[in-house]
Amino acid sequence: MKLFDVYPLYEVTPVRAKDVYVYDNNDIEYLDLYGGHAVISIGHSHPHYVQKIKNQLDQLGFYSNAIKNPLQQQLADAIGEQSCLHDYELFLCSTGAEAIENALKLASFHTQRKKVIAFHNAFHGRTSAAVAVTDNLSINAPLNQQQEVTFLPYNNIDALEEALKTEAYCAVIFEAIQGVGGLDQPSEEFIFAMESLCEKYGSCLIADEVQSGFGRSGTFFAYQQHKINPHIITMAKGMGNGFPIGGILVHPQIKAKYGMLGTTFGGNHLACSASIAVLDVLKEERLQEKTKALEEHFGERAQQIPGVKKIKGRGLMLGLEFDFEVATLRKELIYTHHIFTGGSSNKKLIRILPPLTVKEKHFDLFFDALQLALTKLEAN
Ligand SMILES: Cc1ncc(COP(=O)(O)O)c(C=O)c1O
Repeated sequence: MKLFDVYPLYEVTPVRAKDVYVYDNNDIEYLDLYGGHAVISIGHSHPHYVQKIKNQLDQLGFYSNAIKNPLQQQLADAIGEQSCLHDYELFLCSTGAEAIENALKLASFHTQRKKVIAFHNAFHGRTSAAVAVTDNLSINAPLNQQQEVTFLPYNNIDALEEALKTEAYCAVIFEAIQGVGGLDQPSEEFIFAMESLCEKYGSCLIADEVQSGFGRSGTFFAYQQHKINPHIITMAKGMGNGFPIGGILVHPQIKAKYGMLGTTFGGNHLACSASIAVLDVLKEERLQEKTKALEEHFGERAQQIPGVKKIKGRGLMLGLEFDFEVATLRKELIYTHHIFTGGSSNKKLIRILPPLTVKEKHFDLFFDALQLALTKLEAN
């Protein structure tokens, strides 16, 4: 049987990984500054994480949401402690797109409205409502285009109010730092306006933290830099360090009702154990606090590279913008220097999404390689 061919692949076959390094089937070591798309938070195969999942598997790997699972409460308490969002309530699922689906559905239940406001360059996933609020027609099938979505630019408060005052919108969904879209951030003024206008016109504000959450941006959630209270927060990627788990945090204003949301796999024992292990390590190794110094070091080194036009992002959700498309440069980095980096819908941007255990020395390796790669490309 052939694989359904939807992914353009690099010619690399990783077979094992440790912390910030990935090893291929020829035992070549790659520095992972992509983190499998911002997923690896506490480093590959962290011993505490591996042990916790193994222990759980020996006890009980899975049971559905028809029984009591105390690990879900343990996870909720740990997220509450580290995010300081003690009053929010947790619903668990398995992927980022599923978190978005549940967030939008909940907003629609809560407001009894259908329309959604999303933003230019937004990426929220590939399933039904998630892809409809993603600003990329090429991945949006006719079926998904039935959803009523208005795309607005960030930072246009008048346009936002014009739309919201129709009182037809169940939600405004935003990324505090755009991921796939290329690391743009709405202004603080606009973030406050989103919060107050949603309150004024009865819409829900959804912060999509699928990529930026779990400490990656320097605060537990990226939006928390701005002291707002969204109605719903979505999370996934870094939450499980590779184990598929996602979730939403729901403001106490929104009340739960049996059957309103549900899933077979979400919040299973193994997934909860994986995420609890992630939170243990984030706390124990103070990874979130360390992102600030790493971001500064990254910025200092980036400024010394003449080809870099702009340094983007925050914490360990970073990018370098050039005045040319970076596909060839990224290939040179991976095949010659053995460094994984990320791309984005902005073709001139290299994204850096390393495990949060990355060190300054790894950035030094990257910048030395980048300089060599740029010199080689210029010479050709
Ligand atoms: C901000 C954001 N939201 C949602 C998603 C969808 O997550 P998943 O691929 O787990 O469905 C992504 C994935 O890249 C994302 O970056």
